[in-house]
Amino acid sequence: MHNIEQLIAQATAEFAGIDDADQLEQAKARYLGKNGSLTELLKGLGQLPAEEKRTVGAAINRAKDAVEAVLNVRRNAIKHTALEAQLAAQALDVTLPGRGQGCGGLHPAMRTLERIEQLFRSIGFEVADGPEIETDWHNFTALNTPENHPARSMHDTFYLENAPGVLLRTHTSPVQIRTMLTHVERHKHLDSLPEIRIICPGRVYRVDSDATHSPMFHQVEGLWVGESVSFADLKGVMADFLRRFFESDDLKVRFRPSFFPFTEPSAEIDVAFMSGTMEGRWLEIAGCGMVHPNVLRHGGIDPERYTGFAFGMGPDRLTMLRYGIDDLRLFYDGDLRFLSQFK
Ligand code: DAH
Repeated sequence: MHNIEQLIAQATAEFAGIDDADQLEQAKARYLGKNGSLTELLKGLGQLPAEEKRTVGAAINRAKDAVEAVLNVRRNAIKHTALEAQLAAQALDVTLPGRGQGCGGLHPAMRTLERIEQLFRSIGFEVADGPEIETDWHNFTALNTPENHPARSMHDTFYLENAPGVLLRTHTSPVQIRTMLTHVERHKHLDSLPEIRIICPGRVYRVDSDATHSPMFHQVEGLWVGESVSFADLKGVMADFLRRFFESDDLKVRFRPSFFPFTEPSAEIDVAFMSGTMEGRWLEIAGCGMVHPNVLRHGGIDPERYTGFAFGMGPDRLTMLRYGIDDLRLFYDGDLRFLSQFK
């Protein structure tokens, strides 16, 4: 009897020290299994005198029940602990802020175009548009660059296969012609032509590719035609624009004589910063000039009565200067490490 009480106490203590379900089942086998200690006691019953058999047998059965009960309590405790651990591991903190979708941003080249549009709109310019697949006539001939003119070789042109006279525009200047022609048509009932004041930002194409050239790049064309538009207006508009674009009053702007077939006289516009890493270096950022009489004529405008100025800027150059970017190809790699800096 004494032995049985001891076994119950021993099993209770042993089960209490086990945290693992498998180990618990192994421990159970040591008491209740085929060769377990309680089972062994039962097997020994046969040798006892008949009257002892009943009491000892009953005691052993109670002991078995007691051990089973302790075992079940322990089993449930282990299960409960495991469940708690699992719940804790999978816990959802519904009070955490959401991760969100991540906000996209404008490409730096587009940011510059928007900025240029905004600045020119503020002085009364409208934004015009034209096709990127252009005719030879609009791209060259009408801009006073007839066939076999040496100036055509200034541009390495992409021509379209099986489409004679059609090309990818090499500059935004053909928009000058398109704008003049539609403007004249729209106002043909009037005695005098209202002023044309447009800029045209857009993509242009040339056979060219290195650190500072991409086969596709951006230009912003500008055109102001009216009854007394002068070179002084051109200088004023461009100098003012550049100072506002770079948010700097101590920016130097110079007009250097140059040649373009579609302007006469023509100039190149250079800027120099008075501070920073580029200090004192002249950088070419645009071509410009007074619209050539032949160009006005091709646009249907009388050059005896109207004059105009035009310019063509490289906004990618402006973007590189404004943000300190040294390789143009970064614009077109689509690398988020680069692009996300402009969000
Ligand atoms: N179209 C010229 C180019 O791509 C740039 C240019 C120069 C445009 C002078 C103009 C201009 O309108 O007046 O090289």
